[in-house]
Amino acid sequence: MRMVDIIAKKRDGNTLTKEEIDFFVNGYTKGEVPDYQASALLMAIFYNDMTPEESADLTMAMVESGDQINLADIEGIKVDKHSTGGVGDTTTLVLAPLVAALDVPVAKMSGRGLGHTGGTIDKLEALDGFHVELSQDDFVNLVNKDKLAVIGQSGNLTPADKKIYALRDVTATVNSIPLIASSIMSKKIAAGADAIVLDVKVGDGAFMKTEEDAVALAEAMVQIGNNVGRRTMAIISSMEEPLGYAVGNANEVREAIDTLKGEGPEDLTELSLTLASQMVVVGGKAETIEEARTMLEEVIKNGKALEKFKAFVKNQGGDDSLVDHPENLAQAKYHIDVVATESGFIESIDAENVGVAASILGAGRQTKDDEIDLAVGIIHKKKVGDKVNKGDVLAVLEANTDSVDDVVKRVQDSYHYGKDEVHTKLIKRIITA
Ligand code: URA
Ligand code: CA
Repeated sequence: MRMVDIIAKKRDGNTLTKEEIDFFVNGYTKGEVPDYQASALLMAIFYNDMTPEESADLTMAMVESGDQINLADIEGIKVDKHSTGGVGDTTTLVLAPLVAALDVPVAKMSGRGLGHTGGTIDKLEALDGFHVELSQDDFVNLVNKDKLAVIGQSGNLTPADKKIYALRDVTATVNSIPLIASSIMSKKIAAGADAIVLDVKVGDGAFMKTEEDAVALAEAMVQIGNNVGRRTMAIISSMEEPLGYAVGNANEVREAIDTLKGEGPEDLTELSLTLASQMVVVGGKAETIEEARTMLEEVIKNGKALEKFKAFVKNQGGDDSLVDHPENLAQAKYHIDVVATESGFIESIDAENVGVAASILGAGRQTKDDEIDLAVGIIHKKKVGDKVNKGDVLAVLEANTDSVDDVVKRVQDSYHYGKDEVHTKLIKRIITA
C-alpha cells in the first residue's frame, strides 16, 4: 500500500477502506508517514468529507494507537459525558453524583483546565486533600462500591489523535466535522466508556458558531458511537453566556453543591438534569428521558445526590465536611464590583472573554505547569435577559490582588446590551440514533 494512492483516492472524492485508514494512522503514529503526506490527506478529508463508516474506522484506528482503559471489572454500563468546551461549566460535578445516586456507574477520566476553560480536576482539588492519583484497582473498587470515581488522564491515550491534532492545528484542518468527531470519540472510547452522552455547545463562545454546524457535529459523533457499539446521544446547548453564576474553582464547587441541593442556578440545573437524564437512559436505568428526569429530581429532593457527592469526596481523600460547609472552601481576599457602563437588556455575555478574565485573576493556567489559585474567580450577578441600569453591579471579582482594573474592563466589555429582552433557549436540540 502506498500513501500517495490513499491521498489521491480521497482527493478524487472516493471512500477509503479500513485497511487504508489503518495504514495512514499507524504509519503516521510511528513516524513512517511524513507530515507532508498526512497534511495532504487531512486537507483532502477537509474538502471531501468522510462517510460514517470511514469516520468510525478512523476513530477506532486512533483508539487502537495507544492504551485503552479496561473497565470490564466494573459492573453495569459505564457512561461517560463529554462537553465540547464551556466556560463556568461545572456540570460534571453535578451530574456525576446525580446519576451515580441512581446506580449508573461513572468511571471518569478527567483533565485540568488550560487557557480560558476550567478543568474538573482543578475544581475538585478545591476540596482539601482530594486527589485523582488512583491505582487502576482502587479506581475500579471505588466505582463498584459507590458508583463514582474520577482518575487523572493516562499518559498514552490515543497518541495518534495527539499527533494528528497537532498537525491539524498548523495546517488549517481543525474545523472538519469528521476529524473533530473522530478525535473526540476516540478519546472517550479509549477511556473505556460503554455509552457516551455529548454536550455540543453552540454560539459565539463555542467551537461551532451555528446550530446547523453543531447539529452536524453531534450527528457525526452519535453515528460513530453507535457504529462502534457504544450507545451515544447528544444535546446541542447554547453558549451565549457562561454557565451558572460562578466562574472559577472553589466558587464552582459551591455552585455545584447548591445545585445538588436543588438550589442552583436555573441554567446549570437544567443542563445537568438534561444530560443526566440521557446518561440514565443510556445506562439502562430508565426507559425514557422523562422517567429518568423524575428519578433524578427525586434524588435531589431526598438528599441522596448530595450524600453521593460526599461519599465520593471522602473516598478520594477530600475533606467532606466542606460539602456541608461550602463557606469554608477557599475564599479570595478582595471582592470587587464590576458595574454596568450602560443601561439596557443583556443580550449576551462573551463566555470566552469571561474565561480569560478569570484566568488572569489566577483561576486558570497560561501554561501546563502553572499553579492556579483555587479561591479566585468571577460571580455573575446579571445574566442574559436581565435588565440593568448604568451603575448596577454586573459581577463581582473574587481576587487576591486589588489591582484588577484590566480585568474589570474585560468583564464590562464581555456584556452586550440590546433594547429588548431576549430569551435564549439553553437546550436547543436532542440528537439520538
Ligand atoms: N476537541 C478535540 O478533542 N478534538 C478536536 O478535533 C476538536 C476539539
Ligand atoms: Ca458556573
